Amino acid sequence: MDLAAGKLMVHERRSIRHVDPILVAAAIGLAVIGLFAIYSATHQSLAAVGLDPGRFVKRQVTFLAVGAIVLMLALSFDYRLLKVYAGMIYVSSVVLLVLVATGIVFVAGMRAKSPLVLDTVRRTSRAMKPLALKSAGMPGANASVIRHVGRRTGRAYETPVGAVATDDGFVTPEVLEWYARFAEGQPGVLVVEATGIRDVASGPLLRIGDDRFIPGLQALVETIRERSRGRTRLFIQILDFVTVRRRPEPERFFGRYLAITDSLRGQLALWLDDPRWREAPEDNVREFLLTADRVTIETVLTDRELEALDYGYRERIWDLHLPHVRELPRLLPAFFAEAARRAREAGFDGVELHYAHAYTMASFLSRLNVRTDGYGGSRENRVRLPLEVLAAVRARVGDDYVVGIRYLGDEVIEGGSDLDDAIWFGVRFAAAGVDYLSVSKGGRFEDAKQPKIGEAVYPYTGASGYECMPTVLSDARGPFGRNVPLAAAIRRAIRDAGLQTPLVTSGGITTFDQAEGILERGEADCVAAARQTLADPDWFRKIRLGYGELVRRCEFTNYCEGLDQRHKQVTCKLWDRKFEPGDPVVSLANDGRRRLSAPSWSPPGEAGVDAPAG
Ligand SMILES: Cc1cc2nc3c(=O)[nH]c(=O)nc-3n(C[C@H](O)[C@H](O)[C@H](O)COP(=O)(O)O)c2cc1C
Ligand code: SF4
Repeated sequence: MDLAAGKLMVHERRSIRHVDPILVAAAIGLAVIGLFAIYSATHQSLAAVGLDPGRFVKRQVTFLAVGAIVLMLALSFDYRLLKVYAGMIYVSSVVLLVLVATGIVFVAGMRAKSPLVLDTVRRTSRAMKPLALKSAGMPGANASVIRHVGRRTGRAYETPVGAVATDDGFVTPEVLEWYARFAEGQPGVLVVEATGIRDVASGPLLRIGDDRFIPGLQALVETIRERSRGRTRLFIQILDFVTVRRRPEPERFFGRYLAITDSLRGQLALWLDDPRWREAPEDNVREFLLTADRVTIETVLTDRELEALDYGYRERIWDLHLPHVRELPRLLPAFFAEAARRAREAGFDGVELHYAHAYTMASFLSRLNVRTDGYGGSRENRVRLPLEVLAAVRARVGDDYVVGIRYLGDEVIEGGSDLDDAIWFGVRFAAAGVDYLSVSKGGRFEDAKQPKIGEAVYPYTGASGYECMPTVLSDARGPFGRNVPLAAAIRRAIRDAGLQTPLVTSGGITTFDQAEGILERGEADCVAAARQTLADPDWFRKIRLGYGELVRRCEFTNYCEGLDQRHKQVTCKLWDRKFEPGDPVVSLANDGRRRLSAPSWSPPGEAGVDAPAG
């Protein structure tokens, strides 16, 4: 028996060593496919709920990959170990799948909370309730939902690349078509994109810096009145910006743009330990710098010169050595006031002063503003020009006209203004009689990514840019309602000061319940949506009329913003190639592959269903 048992053991050990290579290859193949499937499922579901899939998935996949390698090693030694490691892989896969399933349930829960089907009673909701911003200017306007969608993000740089607009700043048929489609959704208020207040080339921006722009803007107002059936109030956002140039070719920078100063020559003399550089002719200095190594360049150029080389030249509002920058406090109140007067003449219901993101007025409010002429440094000094502009605009358009301000609740940059500043400014703006405050976040140049040569720096590429237009590739909070706490805190302070100025919040607002919750909790008085409105200009109307299940939900992947960044015509990926039966002739983008406006929608039996708003 013993002998037989011994034979049996030898036989078993032999069969363990005998491993079929085809089976092993198949097992490895299956493991790889399984890993990939788990990876993408986890990635998708975590991203959808706003967790950071990157770190989470990397950790799990590393764990599984290590397991798979150990398994392969084990295979070459002993079959029994295979069982152990296969078990490990199996258990960790199950754990992962449970996590994935939780994520999916989470997403499903969020979707269930969204206003997919609304039938009755919604007219009594806060989001549907009219909010009188100005009794004379906006009688009964349903202003609780503001749409804020520009064709492009109003960048401040000098290149005249305009995919839709012409570079002369006039309203074009494409501009009319763009806004007409949003008007069809009948939002309470539509804020027309950042529009330049000066009569200077402003790239692709619309302009309002001269009376010759009024007829075009008038046509825009009429179009929106007609297409919204008079239900939408129309504001226009007006802005100023300082110069930002494209990142130059090093040859052009050293050959032409860089000023060869005595100080630069001095730096060269010091660094190269050769006093002759102090007297060197300009051409020699340029020639030398063109071929100099990076360490030399970084040593002899000032920070601003280096920035001009690496990112493109960018003015600061505290560059007091530049006469036109020094003059800003003298010039801007009149520029803004005249622009507002034109807006009123064109028929807009109000103006929104753009004090947010990367532009002139936001820079005056910034803690980085170190102007020494009484308009920088302390909070009192930083808010001085913004208040002077507000006063000048008010004096020009009168008390019966809506004048709002959009500004930053937090700049989200190192050394920049934060919520404390924003609260302090908000109370001052409210006390000065602004009609509403719209709170945004970030979108600054300071932390923007380096552009490619020939492109301009784009203020929505860094951390502050992310906060301005957050995406699903996010942290635990996700892109949803990230700015609400800022508006809520500012609102509380304004109420504590005994003022009733309405607060508008925006950023990742995408469902009715979310909007309604914000209003119910008193975190803001109006909710605004840009990308959700881009995804589906009819979203709120659909909800109001009981067709919530038809809402196209924004996916917050910023395809639209990516187009803007590459100077292409802005469209939404959810519109692409969607040609509905009965659509009127569809205009396509220059590339011929994307429709230029959202698919049309009207409720069945339209006239009967869509009762007058408010
Ligand atoms: C295509 C596009 C154009 C925009 N244009 C402007 C603009 O002209 N002025 C402005 O203050 N914000 C502009 N924004 C920013 C939005 O107003 C908003 O603050 C931001 O997108 C976050 O809100 P959301 O999550 O509802 O999109 C734009 C955003 C997009 C996507
Ligand atoms: S392109 Fe993406 S992020 Fe932009 S509006 Fe459409 S779904 Fe939203």
